[in-house]
Amino acid sequence: MQHPVFAANWKMNHGPTAARAFVTAFLERFAPRQDRTVILFPPALSMAVVGWSLRDRQDIGLGVQNISTEDKGAFTGENSAPMARDAGARYALVGHSERRHVFGESDEETAKKCAAAVRSQLTPMLCVGELLAEREAGTTETVVLRQLRAGQLSHDDVSTMAIAYEPVWAIGTGRTATPQDAAAVHATIRAALVALIGDRGKDVPILYGGSVNAGNARSLLDAPGVNGLLVGGASLEPEGWTTICSA
Ligand code: 13P
Repeated sequence: MQHPVFAANWKMNHGPTAARAFVTAFLERFAPRQDRTVILFPPALSMAVVGWSLRDRQDIGLGVQNISTEDKGAFTGENSAPMARDAGARYALVGHSERRHVFGESDEETAKKCAAAVRSQLTPMLCVGELLAEREAGTTETVVLRQLRAGQLSHDDVSTMAIAYEPVWAIGTGRTATPQDAAAVHATIRAALVALIGDRGKDVPILYGGSVNAGNARSLLDAPGVNGLLVGGASLEPEGWTTICSA
């Protein structure tokens, strides 16, 4: 397994001015490290300025938070995978909980977005995770595996993607999954990946997300099968984000 991945999902925060200030402050604090991968997911309007600010830091990757299912055309307000790639993105979040539960995105759309990302040589980071009611009903595994399989990618494509397990009840709530909770679901996802594509499934990074902060990052990373962290609120301040990336 490769080194851990630290991914910052800024959601709808940090327009171009704030994004530039963030990157300047972060780069002052965070020297390049060979033993970890750092990825920033700014809002689409801030991608260009973040990409420009990171031009001398090949160690930090850039990703887009959402892409259209289509590559171009009359889809007002959408951003396509080729455009994200052109703006410097190498990763695309797909199926984030807020896309699914706030914007009503279906498994079918998520599958199309994974395919769109792959068509444009973006690594899809497919987000999966259960609602609180689903956890309480004991259906976590069923939900997560359905979302995983809905990706409908070819075996070669699956081997190039990343997965983020983000239990919906842990996102933005301050209620983090315990390392044991995370490890159990990560083991389920890992087994499904290996069943799908064999040994190559052992190398697909599986990140945990949901109320990660500077205080719990290390213990979550130490949980068996957790290969990285996808961080929302605690990634918005350069100092806190530096601490997390140094965990
Ligand atoms: P929080 O870290 O704010 O809980 O958000 C998690 C998340 O949704 C990252 O994609």
